[in-house]
Amino acid sequence: MKAVRFARYGGPEVLELLEVDAPHAQAGQVRIAVRAAGVNGLEWKIRQGLLRDVRPLRLPAGVGGDAAGIVDEVGAGVTGVRVGDAVFGSGQETYAEHAVLTSWTPKPPEVSFEEAAGYATPFETALRVLDDAGVRGGQTVVVNGASGGVGSAAVQFAVERGATVIGVAGPSNQDYLVSLGAVPTTYGPGLVERVRALAPAGVDAAVDVAGSGVIAELAALTGDPGRVVSIADFGAPALGARVSTGFGRDKTPALREGARLAAAGRLTLPVTRTFPLAHAGTAQAASATGHVRGRVIVTVP
Ligand SMILES: NC(=O)c1ccc[n+]([C@@H]2O[C@H](COP(=O)([O-])OP(=O)(O)OC[C@H]3O[C@@H](n4cnc5c(N)ncnc54)[C@H](OP(=O)(O)O)[C@@H]3O)[C@@H](O)[C@H]2O)c1
Repeated sequence: MKAVRFARYGGPEVLELLEVDAPHAQAGQVRIAVRAAGVNGLEWKIRQGLLRDVRPLRLPAGVGGDAAGIVDEVGAGVTGVRVGDAVFGSGQETYAEHAVLTSWTPKPPEVSFEEAAGYATPFETALRVLDDAGVRGGQTVVVNGASGGVGSAAVQFAVERGATVIGVAGPSNQDYLVSLGAVPTTYGPGLVERVRALAPAGVDAAVDVAGSGVIAELAALTGDPGRVVSIADFGAPALGARVSTGFGRDKTPALREGARLAAAGRLTLPVTRTFPLAHAGTAQAASATGHVRGRVIVTVP
């Protein structure tokens, strides 16, 4: 099968599309014929070597974690799914014609493979960070970085909980934030004042998705850094806020919850950039800009 691999750390140019042996589903896993794979920020950071101390890789290595496709192998002990089922989920080395998933759920027929390919990481991360921040109905929550993959999901899950969401993104995404159900504002100087004007009764919690160095401002808004949770600012604990990470967690409950809402038309993660597998490096470069609305996807012929 064809798969994207890299043999040394570096820029997008180290990614190669190679002919390799297909993986097989081990116990508790399924293998899919990949139709599309989601592109996440973690992947270019791993490729660049930024995580080599915490997540050492044996090179050459495959790339990718999220995908959607058709089940073509079912591992021992797996029930409730059969060869031929359309699923989406999370696993390993998903920028490939076949990939093994460790968490999955049926793809709602209402959404495309491309859209579902981008769901797994945003769904799990968004629900986890909202839980970590204690977001519930009746509260007002700020989502910093609200128009990307995780942010778009976080806004919509929080609105589903009955929270009022103030979404922070760039000027060109303000109307998009409104379409997700958020009260929009822009990032940059004056953030605290803008949010206070939009939420005169105060802010109960803040989630920082962008990692743009505004933990102190978000703590000023909530009145307590303990009510600020970041997924991307590892300086947050020094300011009394928390960092949420999801390594090793079972994503299945979050996949099911997101799929339920997507099937009902109550949650959408638009795919705004699509690249063929052979251009995976360009796809990662687009993701690395940190300014793509919704999701970046690679498609598999
Ligand atoms: N800890 C975890 O478990 C975990 C899990 C998944 C992802 N992550 C990390 O979380 C980050 C976000 O992931 P993602 O997939 O949602 O990224 P993304 O799709 O690239 O979205 C980035 C978002 O940040 C906004 N943004 C850019 N500059 C900003 C600024 N200065 N202030 C506020 N917002 C700004 C963008 O808005 P505009 O386009 O409008 O500028 C966009 O909404 C990445 O660093 C990723 O690696 C962590």
